[in-house]
Amino acid sequence: MKKIFLITAVLASAPVFAAHPVVEELMTEYRAGGTAQFSAEQGRALWNQENRNGDEVRTCASCHAADLRKEGRHASTGRAIGPLAPSVDPKRLTQRSEIEKWFGRNCKWTFGRVCTPEEKGHFLAFIQSQ
Ligand code: HEC
Repeated sequence: MKKIFLITAVLASAPVFAAHPVVEELMTEYRAGGTAQFSAEQGRALWNQENRNGDEVRTCASCHAADLRKEGRHASTGRAIGPLAPSVDPKRLTQRSEIEKWFGRNCKWTFGRVCTPEEKGHFLAFIQSQ
């Protein structure tokens, strides 16, 4: 019951578009890591957190934009990356395999390690709210 309330609370912070069931499923799994509630604000802070890789400063916005409604550009290949915001592209955050694959690759590139379930939950809350 408590869980259901918390999921509702997180989704209520995304006023325009309801989260896809895949997001709810993943959040429930990530919660097993011990975090009761995920926050879009903490997700935003992680999104902009600067990480050093030698002389280079890396953030999630190195390839995606700081504003998720805008197009990004891949830091290494220069290729355009479509907006991540589900309010702009409703196909975002609808496929579990895509989300997990890119969390895996992108956390390693940005932070030099895998993300914790807690971090992934905050990221989902943030991206979903955009
Ligand atoms: C080195 C470039 C790069 C960085 C840095 C990066 N990403 Fe990505 N990301 C990509 C690419 C490329 C894709 C796949 C192309 C696409 O989905 O348009 C992607 C896709 C995603 C997706 C898939 C969304 C969906 O449902 O379609 C998520 C989630 C994501 N990134 C989150 C993150 C997070 C969180 C960070 C910071 C930890 C991050 N990315 C940093 C390049 C990057």
